[in-house]
Amino acid sequence: MKIQQYIEQTAKRMLKHDLFYGHGTDNPLDEAVYLIYTSLGIDFADGDQDNRVLTDSEISVLERAVNSRIEHRLPVAYIVGKAWFAGYAFYCDERALVPRSPIAELIRNRFEPLLSSDPLRILDLCAGGGSIGIASALEFADSQVDLADISVEALALAADNIALYDLADRVTTLQSDLFTAVDGKYDLIVSNPPYVSQQEYDELPDEFLHEPALGLISEDEGLELPLRIMREAADYLNEAGVLVMEVGYSNELLAQRLEKVPLLWLQFDQGGEGVLALTVSQLQQYRECFK
Ligand SMILES: C[S@@+](CC[C@H](N)C(=O)[O-])C[C@H]1O[C@@H](n2cnc3c(N)ncnc32)[C@H](O)[C@@H]1O
Repeated sequence: MKIQQYIEQTAKRMLKHDLFYGHGTDNPLDEAVYLIYTSLGIDFADGDQDNRVLTDSEISVLERAVNSRIEHRLPVAYIVGKAWFAGYAFYCDERALVPRSPIAELIRNRFEPLLSSDPLRILDLCAGGGSIGIASALEFADSQVDLADISVEALALAADNIALYDLADRVTTLQSDLFTAVDGKYDLIVSNPPYVSQQEYDELPDEFLHEPALGLISEDEGLELPLRIMREAADYLNEAGVLVMEVGYSNELLAQRLEKVPLLWLQFDQGGEGVLALTVSQLQQYRECFK
């Protein structure tokens, strides 16, 4: 069987089994290409291989991978150990969430027009495997970046990703309950914290249950951690500093609770929503509202 035929057959199987998409792709065909190309070690740019005939041993490797996706509902990134974010490849496994934040688009656009100059100190708070902070470090070559997370396991994965890009001189991991162990001030704090309520978590498709619940669930209808970040971020930002934070589909509830705060919801060309930006002076001015 040719690679192209195996891809089409797999996409059909996926469609029949009513999988959830949203950990890197949004449809069965892209999901099948991601799984099959990466399992075979083929570069996405190298379309010439689609007509190559698969060997028996390749087919048995692929069958195992496809079964993990269909029978066990594992996200592809965990099966192949690799995810792409903001155009960069990262190691990915069950120690941290699969990276998928729309913040990727902001990084590729160098956070324009939110920053008055290139950030020299960046904090990726709730960094998981480090994709947001590391992609930011790659975009801003003069920046120093701290990756903070409460999970030792996630930070170990982040350390692997720092080594992957040889960034140990500019990117550091920090175990911290939000800002507790954070020191000094930053030009940019970027965060994708947990923002899913327990009730929403209980209804999520099985794919999410392979991810650490610590990375998803937040008390107070999902808003406990985002509000804590908003309350404390001003103390860790320089004069022109900015907080960029994702709250996903908790955006409506947050906007309702913070009626008086002029939240700037960012727009995305490549899809996604629920990412806000606040300047340090706004965070100071409205601090009482975040309680
Ligand atoms: C939604 S995941 C985001 C991971 C990564 N930034 C990304 O976008 O893929 C949230 C992360 O927050 C971490 N976390 C949960 N509670 C935390 C806390 N109190 N302080 C710091 N990190 C926390 C989790 O371990 C998890 O890695």
